Amino acid sequence: MNRIAVVPGSFDPVTLGHLDVIERAAGIFDELHVLVVHNPDKSALLPVAQRVALIEKSIADAGIGGNIKVTSWSVGLLVDYCTDVGATVLVKGVRSQVDVAYETPMAIVNRNLAGVETVFLLPDPAHAHVSSSLVRQVAALGGDVSPYVPRAVAEFLQTPNAR
Ligand code: PNS
Repeated sequence: MNRIAVVPGSFDPVTLGHLDVIERAAGIFDELHVLVVHNPDKSALLPVAQRVALIEKSIADAGIGGNIKVTSWSVGLLVDYCTDVGATVLVKGVRSQVDVAYETPMAIVNRNLAGVETVFLLPDPAHAHVSSSLVRQVAALGGDVSPYVPRAVAEFLQTPNAR
């Protein structure tokens, strides 16, 4: 049986914490889709296509890309994408009880909507404090984001006029 899982997120931008979860999930499932979802509740730093490109580069640089596909989704429910591609599992990285509390209602709704289960993975505790919103804030104020993001992202954010 070909087990397909989806790691969804805003990935604005992808962080080392995301990459850690992506690598762990790719080791568990036969096929992994990293899905950039436009979240209208958040004001974006990067266009969706740029986020996809930076995830692809980060995965390639890390040498973990064998069974991973990176794509985006902006129309309809997340579970509709899962149904379209035959994915039965969503993977979410949870850094803390706060993340678990935030993710739990979505996991139950997604299961009720389409029978898609959610698997929570624990990232390396070294990344427990890392979030895209923190990276966006540090980058906007001219700080060094390189400890928190893949090299491709740090280079992109630090390139003048890249954003
Ligand atoms: O990285 P984020 O911003 O925490 O990711 C949140 C995301 C994109 C996973 C979440 O907003 C989401 O699941 N959006 C899809 C919309 C949807 O299907 N909603 C109904 C079920 S929760």
